[in-house]
Amino acid sequence: MTTERRNFYGRIHGKTLRASQRDYLGDLEAMSLRGVSPAENPARTPLDLTGLTQGRPLWLEVGFGGGEHLFHMAQNHPDVAIIGAEPFVNGIAMLLGKIRAAAVTNLALHPGDVRDLFDVLPAQSLSKVFLNYPDPWPKARHHRRRFVTPGYLALLASRMKPGAEFRVATDIPDYVRQTLEEVPPAGFDLIHQGGLGEHWSDWFSTRYEQKALREGRLPHYLTFHRKG
Ligand SMILES: C[S@@+](CC[C@H](N)C(=O)[O-])C[C@H]1O[C@@H](n2cnc3c(N)ncnc32)[C@H](O)[C@@H]1O
Repeated sequence: MTTERRNFYGRIHGKTLRASQRDYLGDLEAMSLRGVSPAENPARTPLDLTGLTQGRPLWLEVGFGGGEHLFHMAQNHPDVAIIGAEPFVNGIAMLLGKIRAAAVTNLALHPGDVRDLFDVLPAQSLSKVFLNYPDPWPKARHHRRRFVTPGYLALLASRMKPGAEFRVATDIPDYVRQTLEEVPPAGFDLIHQGGLGEHWSDWFSTRYEQKALREGRLPHYLTFHRKG
């Protein structure tokens, strides 16, 4: 259980939502995990995820943005259950629009900071975790806000099964540096490091990645396994 106060530095709201997006947000409650926020679950009791997983492996996407990769994974891996965590309301609305158009039943959302979710996920419950194009925080004095820092990584590691896969995609060379420095000491082995075109076989390129490519930034794809 944690009572620590956490700062979230990213954006929660963007451009004014279109009427259709506001409508999609009406589906959010039904898609959201119960008992994640400290207000709803002050004792931080671990979630019972059996209804979602139904015996299937559990995956997590951290910061799914517009949800393109998350939705693709849920559709293409019906044999797993996936949670997506993302506080940015406009992105959540985009994902809900996709779900409205083609229902998926193996997906649940946490519309907030992934650290609140980590608090209440059972230990060693995750078989795979995706961190795609995390916020780069380019200024050196902001590097400690990055996901690949000891506070985030200790929580992540404790919720992953031994041998579970952690995928990181980024277009920022200094983010690669910090990932290679910080992730192994948090309890992971580096398995593979790839560049342009060397992504995972079930990868789905998001709008964020397409923009990076148009602007001449190259992707890096890193795969780690949780020690154990
Ligand atoms: C640069 S965007 C990339 C979005 C998406 N993964 C993609 O590849 O298109 C990074 C996302 O991470 C989300 N994010 C940042 N910190 C987060 C946190 N603590 N918990 C959950 N999501 C977070 C941001 O809101 C943002 O949408």
